[in-house]
Amino acid sequence: MTTEIFIKDLTKKYPKGPEALRGIHLEVGKGQLFTLLGPNGAGKSTLVKIITTLIQPDSGEFTIGGQNPDKEFSNTRNYIGVASQDNELDPAEKVEDLLRFQGRLFGLSKPQARQRAEELIDAFELQSERQKKCETLSGGNKRRLHCALALVHRPHVLFLDEPTVGMDPEARARFWQVINQINKNDGVTIFLTTQYLEEADKHATEMALIMDGTIHYRGSVSEFKEMVNAGQKLTLEESYLTYVGQSRQPETPLQKLEVPQGLNS
Ligand SMILES: Nc1ncnc2c1ncn2[C@@H]1O[C@H](COP(=O)(O)OP(=O)(O)OP(=O)(O)O)[C@@H](O)[C@H]1O
Ligand SMILES: [Mg+2]
Repeated sequence: MTTEIFIKDLTKKYPKGPEALRGIHLEVGKGQLFTLLGPNGAGKSTLVKIITTLIQPDSGEFTIGGQNPDKEFSNTRNYIGVASQDNELDPAEKVEDLLRFQGRLFGLSKPQARQRAEELIDAFELQSERQKKCETLSGGNKRRLHCALALVHRPHVLFLDEPTVGMDPEARARFWQVINQINKNDGVTIFLTTQYLEEADKHATEMALIMDGTIHYRGSVSEFKEMVNAGQKLTLEESYLTYVGQSRQPETPLQKLEVPQGLNS
């Protein structure tokens, strides 16, 4: 396996805030559809922001595609695409103009930027929104546009921080069609955070679980389920609830975990 994302000893404490990351080690292989799971406030977005250079860590190292985006950003900015959890969109800009502008920013010619914008408007079904100003978009359509913007320059690694929040079921299905296609056909590595565990269960093969700024598990989704369930067939959501619930009581050994009532019926 070729390592695409490499993270070592990463720590981050916000000024007057908590210790958000407490020494993160993580590797993600090229072409993986990887999901980082964890409760609210666990440190997922902090990790994504650091490795996409939006904020600085206190210590540690990381590389993406063998390069440190922080130090070699001009070389690697074309390599990654990011749809952050709290990205701002230019409120007065129209959807299609923003997509074209993004293409121009990444060095596409005017006709190329126009064509790429069309492809992404089609892919994320934003046809009826194309002339609207960003400030007038609904929440789900904003998320679609964030994802489209992240893909304009055909990145090799795509970071998606809770991308499907607010998307309706059709938009979500369409979104996963696009993501699976670029992952399987184009070999794009996907680094996803989500609270919709049925999505992670269905689409991700590799995962990590982060709690209180510490990685608790790193491995395949199926091995996580096996590890927690000890022979029972449970979904990722059920396994996650079991593990996270029991981890809050550190005295309880993992093999004695009980499945919350009603979850395995
Ligand atoms: N700018 C900030 N200043 C101070 N503390 C922050 C800041 N951003 C995040 N935090 C804190 O750092 C911790 C980790 O936050 P983070 O946003 O990384 O969590 P998360 O796993 O992405 O959560 P969620 O599932 O809610 O998105 C939390 O305790 C959060 O309150
Ligand atoms: Mg977050």
